Amino acid sequence: MRIVMIGTGYVGLVSGACFADFGHEVVCVDKDQSKIDALLNGEIPIFEPGLDELVAKNVAAGRLSFTLDLAEALPGTDAVFIAVGTPSRRGDGHADLSYVYAAAREMAPLLPDGVVVVDKSTVPVGTGDEVERIIREEAPELSFSVASNPEFLREGAAIDDFKRPDRVVIGVNDAHAESVLEEIYRPLTRNESPLVSMSRRGAELTKYAANAFLATKIGFINEIADLCEKVGADVRDVSKGIGLDSRIGNRFLMPGPGYGGSCFPKDTLALLKTGQDYESPLRIVESVVASNDQRKRGMGRKVINALGGGDLHGKTVAVLGLTFKANTDDMRDSPAISVVQALQDAGIEVKAYDPEGMEQAKKVLSNVTYCEGPYEAMDGADALVIVTEWDTFRALDLDRVKGLLKDLIFVDLRNLYSRSDVEGTGFKYIGVGR
Ligand code: UDX
Repeated sequence: MRIVMIGTGYVGLVSGACFADFGHEVVCVDKDQSKIDALLNGEIPIFEPGLDELVAKNVAAGRLSFTLDLAEALPGTDAVFIAVGTPSRRGDGHADLSYVYAAAREMAPLLPDGVVVVDKSTVPVGTGDEVERIIREEAPELSFSVASNPEFLREGAAIDDFKRPDRVVIGVNDAHAESVLEEIYRPLTRNESPLVSMSRRGAELTKYAANAFLATKIGFINEIADLCEKVGADVRDVSKGIGLDSRIGNRFLMPGPGYGGSCFPKDTLALLKTGQDYESPLRIVESVVASNDQRKRGMGRKVINALGGGDLHGKTVAVLGLTFKANTDDMRDSPAISVVQALQDAGIEVKAYDPEGMEQAKKVLSNVTYCEGPYEAMDGADALVIVTEWDTFRALDLDRVKGLLKDLIFVDLRNLYSRSDVEGTGFKYIGVGR
């Protein structure tokens, strides 16, 4: 199959490279000259484990190419995937669909007959209808289909998620679109990944429902963690105790500083807007959003309380981990932002280290001393707080840490450490839900 991928962001680039790896011929198109230039030079604009090798291998095999020019990419294509950004619209939390609609309008006059236009961006219910209307308006004679194919990959595990998905969801309103998408995903369905075919609106909503449900699981266990602290229970026991019930499932029950990233915060807000537009309130999701917002800032207070509260001017805290989770350089809606800002508001100096996220962090967090490594960040600090679960923070040399910190306060917002190990070295240990 010949595939055009519009947008070389996270989803577009990973999907494009993986489709090429399946043996399809893929052309990735982006408007951003610097991104295309970088990709043509073999540079990957995002940090994602394994992606550079996958791109290089498929470019070398002649199956994957990059261009700025839609008119060069589109002739003869079987499917065009729209994988452009759908950020939160400023002011109201609605998904901003202007990039999706602009892509539809621009491609319409260039599309070949029989093409299937597939929305891979996360878009609210009904967006496929509008994409279809725009293309029909711009190219009244064209025969085409519009389908939805939401993407469920996680940053940091994107290639594995794409190649070994729990399921592939396709939303199609006609048989031609269904058969083209089935053909594109044949390499996965042959390996028994289930392909779930449904209406276009059903697929659009499935993506939001999945993310909102996962966010709800996290929000739920985070509140249970808070209760554990009050009643003297350990949330890791509770998490295990409920997660082994197959109706509940053990994943996404890890308490922490709150969820962040490019999807959960934005998609839960957009789903709430859809609920409002259709007069179908989503009270559970509303509570999850509010609870998570409060939690992120609350994690800053947790560190402040660990330092004893009161006037903390002149104190310094070492923050380990800035990205919203490990194995990414993504800072979007990272809990670290709220933690650092809460500390700074209390007059505390922040020294920080992150293995991949410091470039991005510098754009959102000022007045932070960015350090070369975790021990440099701890040197002379009054307390240490682990915000992101990077592997390099899992086995800190506690004796060395002890020699560097002024006060032996160890706040572990990801529960990476055993209390007895840390307390055994003489620290005051504060985890989450323990
Ligand atoms: C998520 C979805 O998992 C993915 O299916 C969708 O396509 C995009 O959004 P991603 O944002 O990359 O993926 O990361 P994910 O691993 O899901 O984590 C999201 C946030 O939840 C992170 O801040 C993470 O730290 C937090 N989280 C996750 C927890 O706090 N506890 C958990 O148990 C799991």
